[in-house]
Amino acid sequence: MGYKIWNPHLCWIAPDAQIGDGTTIGNFTEVGFGVKIGKNCKIQAFVFIPKGVTLEDNVFIGPATTFTNDRYPTAKAYGKFEQTTVQEGANIGAGSTIRCGITIGKGATIGAGSVVTRDVPAFSTVKGVAAK
Ligand SMILES: CC(C)(COP(=O)(O)OP(=O)(O)OC[C@H]1O[C@@H](n2cnc3c(N)ncnc32)[C@H](O)[C@@H]1OP(=O)(O)O)[C@@H](O)C(=O)NCCC(=O)NCCS
Repeated sequence: MGYKIWNPHLCWIAPDAQIGDGTTIGNFTEVGFGVKIGKNCKIQAFVFIPKGVTLEDNVFIGPATTFTNDRYPTAKAYGKFEQTTVQEGANIGAGSTIRCGITIGKGATIGAGSVVTRDVPAFSTVKGVAAK
């Protein structure tokens, strides 16, 4: 079955990224080295998913969502990469920014335009800047 990138020439997918069956990836999306994406996820357009991010199965990522992996980035050197996990069936609203080093719990919902800086409990809804 495999996964589907709607327009492969408009995306960059790292050669070692793992992407599960039934997942779809929209235009202008970047998936970094070592990223793991589960089955049946829907990743919309303009999404940045760098090294250190794991998406479990059935996750929805709204358009223009930005994940991060370095809490204190500089142009000179990489800092410490932190892991971020989005658990099974969580849904992330359009235009959200996900600070690295957190877990978004199973079935959680993130409102559009949120900046998520802390772990999000399973099946909860958070929104805003910083998301609560
Ligand atoms: C967070 C969300 C799920 C809440 O839905 P809801 O419970 O139906 O929300 P309501 O419209 O009843 O709003 C409840 C309150 O939260 C506020 N609110 C809703 N969404 C918000 C958001 N994303 N950020 C900040 N505040 C938000 C509303 O202004 C309202 O505040 P008030 O009570 O002071 O008036 C929804 O608003 C949302 O952001 N969904 C994501 C949509 C999206 O990005 N889809 C992607 C596919 S295109």
